[in-house]
Amino acid sequence: MTGMMKICTYPDPVLRAKAEVVKTVDDDLLALIKGMGETMYAAPGIGLAANQIGSLKRVLIYDLNPRINGRKLSVIINPEIVQREGEIVYEEACLSVIDYSAEVKRHARVKVTGYDQNEKPVDIEAEDLLAICLQHEIDHLNGRLFIDHISTLKRALYKKKIQKMLRKEND
Ligand code: NI
Repeated sequence: MTGMMKICTYPDPVLRAKAEVVKTVDDDLLALIKGMGETMYAAPGIGLAANQIGSLKRVLIYDLNPRINGRKLSVIINPEIVQREGEIVYEEACLSVIDYSAEVKRHARVKVTGYDQNEKPVDIEAEDLLAICLQHEIDHLNGRLFIDHISTLKRALYKKKIQKMLRKEND
């Protein structure tokens, strides 16, 4: 499993499923992480959760500034938010939610724990864009999308837009 993978988009049910805890980091998982990295950089995006490429493993990856700093892929396996505080509003988008962005309110600072691809513990105190990114990706692993944080009306309008687009594709 290497190379670019297809990114699943709303309303694909895999985006609504809860990803499962990873028990061992084996070759399959490392191949998944490698494929996720290639897919994210090619998209391009700053974060990706395994659900988005159709795998229900609790794995997320991110790289906030690949163009400025060069590629430095960060991986969190079994990520968990253990502390949260403050509030921040940011215009979010998602590779799985095509043609849409909306302001989402999240915690301004989060502490996230988990493991990296070498099974070393990860313990991150994140703020601003990294905090937003981690909350967004962990949401994915729990079957949630950023559009779940917007008003029912806005979400209904987006649903309508997508249904219209899918109908056109099928005509
Ligand atoms: Ni996303």
